[in-house]
Amino acid sequence: EKGGYDYFMLKEIAEQPKAVADTLLGRIGTDGRLTLDELRIPDQVLREVDKVVVVACGTAFHAGMIAKYAIEHWTRIPCEVEVASEFRYRDPIMDDRTLVIAISQSGETMDTLMALRHAREQGAKVLAICNTNGSTIPRESDAVLYTHAGPEVAVASTKAFLTQLVACYLVALYLGQVRGTKWGDEISSVIRELGDAPRQVEQVLGTMEPVRALARSLADAPAVLFLGRHVGHPVALEGALKLKELAYMHAEGFAAGELKHGPIALIEEGLPVVVVVPSPRGRSILHDKIVSNIQEIRARGARTIVIAEEGDEAVVPYADHLIRIPATPTLLQPLVSTVPLQVFACELATAKGHEVDQPRNLAKSVTVE
Ligand code: M6R
Repeated sequence: EKGGYDYFMLKEIAEQPKAVADTLLGRIGTDGRLTLDELRIPDQVLREVDKVVVVACGTAFHAGMIAKYAIEHWTRIPCEVEVASEFRYRDPIMDDRTLVIAISQSGETMDTLMALRHAREQGAKVLAICNTNGSTIPRESDAVLYTHAGPEVAVASTKAFLTQLVACYLVALYLGQVRGTKWGDEISSVIRELGDAPRQVEQVLGTMEPVRALARSLADAPAVLFLGRHVGHPVALEGALKLKELAYMHAEGFAAGELKHGPIALIEEGLPVVVVVPSPRGRSILHDKIVSNIQEIRARGARTIVIAEEGDEAVVPYADHLIRIPATPTLLQPLVSTVPLQVFACELATAKGHEVDQPRNLAKSVTVE
């Protein structure tokens, strides 16, 4: 049932192009507009939403962080994102114009379930983004958008994450479409680009051999740091989480701009630092700033592992290892930049002799608070 792969995780990483395509299936009309009939929340209610709150745990929380960028940019509705386990304990402010999005692969995560119950008690509408048909979280929500990634068996989430991202983009774009924001043209072009995501993920998967070799060479590294800006920040957090849970290594993700406020003190000779570089097109200021961050850490001895778009030549002089990803609109980059980090963690853990499908101390679904 592992389909010829040694581990479910490898199989699930490889399934990502299809999983992403399945999440999109039937949701983009021939006219290029989105149809999310299953949403069951009337457009009129969506037009009146004045705040979005995303709650989730672990990897799904990282998808939520990315959703915030997309929702605020395309809809101009303020969006908060919070780990579900913290949410209800701070007495969050919500009412019937609040849309709460609960993201969960399993649909059984107790922290997320308790957060959404709290939200509904306050009168908020809850939309679940979930991979498991008929599970508790969608059953207790006002509406559900299924990710259709197929069963995810490995404890470390991979294809569920990419499809959660796609579902979040669809919700953000749909809200933008329904509310008719000034980003109309950008929204239609992003919808088109999303359709190309499965091919781009496939392309990245085809270039992973050097990433595997690099991961094997780092099996004895004491720690790995991950840096990113904008949507690259949650990607960095996700890369670090994967390495923690699979390789049992000290791994940390930072917003690259925070480096100088403390973490740069961690940099020492030979420390591997993975940097997720935003596109040089679009918000190019972000790109230039991260190139300076790479220069700074390299000058202090870091071994730089740079994930950058094809054609981005500015990073070349400072990259000890360069991992290329296809060019995408800034907000969609996590769909391609996360893939090398999954492969990296899986290979590094395997090189250390760990059982990647069943990491120690972890369960696939956490049904206690
Ligand atoms: O089933 P859920 O998406 O609600 O699970 C949330 C987290 O427990 C989960 O993403 C966890 O962080 C994964 N093991 C990460 O790989």
